[in-house]
Amino acid sequence: MNEKLIISGGRRLEGELRVTAAKNSVLPLIACCIMSEEEIHIHNCPQIADIFSMIDIIRAIGGSAELKNGTLSVNCKYANPQLVTADLTSSIRSSVFILGPILARFHYADISYPGGCEIGLRPIDLHIYGLKCLGIKVTEYGGMIICDGDNKRGGVVELDFPSVGATENIMMAGTLGSGVTVIRNAAREPEIVDLQNFINYLGGKVHGAGTGVITVEGVKSLGGGEYTPLGDRIAAATYLTAVGSAGGRAQITGAQPELMYAVLEKLKRAGCEITELNDGVRIVSSGKLHAVHKIETQPFPGYPTDMQPQITAMLAAADGTSFIVENMFENRFKYTAQLIKMGANIIVKDRVAVVKGVKKLSGALVAAEDLRGGAALVAAAIGADGDSVITGVRHIDRGYDKIENAFALLGADIKRVIEN
Ligand code: UD1
Repeated sequence: MNEKLIISGGRRLEGELRVTAAKNSVLPLIACCIMSEEEIHIHNCPQIADIFSMIDIIRAIGGSAELKNGTLSVNCKYANPQLVTADLTSSIRSSVFILGPILARFHYADISYPGGCEIGLRPIDLHIYGLKCLGIKVTEYGGMIICDGDNKRGGVVELDFPSVGATENIMMAGTLGSGVTVIRNAAREPEIVDLQNFINYLGGKVHGAGTGVITVEGVKSLGGGEYTPLGDRIAAATYLTAVGSAGGRAQITGAQPELMYAVLEKLKRAGCEITELNDGVRIVSSGKLHAVHKIETQPFPGYPTDMQPQITAMLAAADGTSFIVENMFENRFKYTAQLIKMGANIIVKDRVAVVKGVKKLSGALVAAEDLRGGAALVAAAIGADGDSVITGVRHIDRGYDKIENAFALLGADIKRVIEN
């Protein structure tokens, strides 16, 4: 099945939109459920491909997972680590998250190496290093990672880099069992605070998330219950940049403005009017923006790499030259070739994109090649003159819950076409 988005650009955007829970919170939360033998309900879940993949993993290992009316109900009482097969974990990158929880509960894990993805190599050496610090014996053999956690205890993990995934995996590995785990130079992303809150709600003992040092005191077991994760700050910010370039006024709710400061600051500098609300942001834009001298992606609270393509798309039609520096992933400028098809003037050299703003982008036939790059193309097409066709929609579906419905709510002329 081939799906395309057909967009007729040039309309100003206006309206209100509420985002669901953050993909990057819900994914580790689902993995975390493996540690409990009780039923857990996660509310406000997005219906996106990455969550469906994680649900498939839970079912494949013998748990149950049902997503109904936005609530995901998970029960891992009968989960069995022997059912984790190589093809299951090699096909889904997020499967790396199950390593920590499986080791915490079953003391043994055998998964295949998750491999790279569209935006970079994405090694997992820091995950493995962290597990070894907890006394877990890790053997890498023929693309498999075999972990023996019989002697698992607490330990001190000093991360070379504040990796989000490694921090989460090590937090979960330390959650069950004896001993205290300390993670230094931990990632400080809000989704890590959410994971801490979730673990503690279920009966775990984690402190310090949101700072560079996280302490995990092992407990005997986790319980069940219901939880509403953090709102999706990246989805919210994506819609804001689209309003920025198309022009108009909108209220995007469901995500806390204080978790989006780095992006809001750049939107203001480009000329958007931003008002912080309790539970979201109001934006007013004339659609005539100016360049932002330099944007450099950094770990939180710096500018998020997951918002790099969308702001580049916005600045592609702003007055003046912007410099975008990508520090997190080595291959995150692929989408710029597609923006160039729409008339953008962008030169990429290594980790820097030089964006010379043009008056207006024009509609074109473009291909989404990764999640956030794809979302950037949608936002660009909405602000562009004329019609665009975007292929590769499956990449966008990984992280946005029916992006065409969200933008249609804001008044964009966008529809999905399915060809067999
Ligand atoms: C998470 C987010 C992703 C976001 C990224 C950075 C989820 C599901 N995904 O990805 O959307 O773009 O954080 O904010 O939450 N690295 C290593 N070795 C490791 C681990 C990471 O070298 O063991 C490198 C990566 O290749 C990358 C950088 O560290 O260059 C950041 O990666 P990391 O913070 O781990 O990102 P993810 O957890 O994969």
